[in-house]
Amino acid sequence: ITIRRATIDDIICMQNANLHNLPENYMMKYYMYHILSWPELSFVATTTDIEVESADSSDTLDCTDSSGNTVKLDPTYVRPGEKLIGYVLAKMNDDPEQASEPANGHITSLSVMRTYRRMGLAEKLMRQALLALREVNGATYVSLHVRQSNRAALHLYRDTLKFEVLSIEKSYYQDGEDAYSMKKMLDIDQ
Ligand code: ACO
Repeated sequence: ITIRRATIDDIICMQNANLHNLPENYMMKYYMYHILSWPELSFVATTTDIEVESADSSDTLDCTDSSGNTVKLDPTYVRPGEKLIGYVLAKMNDDPEQASEPANGHITSLSVMRTYRRMGLAEKLMRQALLALREVNGATYVSLHVRQSNRAALHLYRDTLKFEVLSIEKSYYQDGEDAYSMKKMLDIDQ
């Protein structure tokens, strides 16, 4: 398993993983916006152990190859021989209404494919993003939202990564669930 920076070539697979793992989904252009604006901040976990995993993949994408033929592509393939098993999509907060705030980052989305969970991958992806936010973009803190019912993610953020709960945002999600708004200062101890 490898963790590396996400590139523009990864975004189909990141979107696919997001669709598998979370109800909060984004248009392709929003992934592009992240990768083009902050190319250092988002990361993917990949594996070359594709034989074991391929039994899992249920759907394929219709793509057009360079000769104009339609080919079926397993959307979890990142590059030949490489498969995406997790990602973190991160950005700087560029809300003009918060321009007076010190530089700060935001975790837009994080997920790990089911068969690769509880191996420490999400923690590793998050630590890479937090380090890059601080070291590359000078973020003084980072924020995110998480569903109140999401025990796994809450454990990761609150207990493992020491985020604090700032507030509860009522009906933040489309289905009416409340969100914890969380924040972590990005100082020396990470
Ligand atoms: N229940 C309780 N604790 C858990 C669970 C669980 N189901 N899963 C992981 N943890 C704990 C681990 O034990 C570990 O704790 P430790 O530091 O005390 O040992 C910690 O969380 C980190 O575990 P990882 O192995 O790094 O987490 P994993 O790779 O399994 O990924 C994730 C966690 C991303 C939440 C995964 O379960 C997932 O993809 N879920 C679906 C998508 C999701 O909910 N994403 C987060 C949404 S919020 C957002 O995107 C900003």
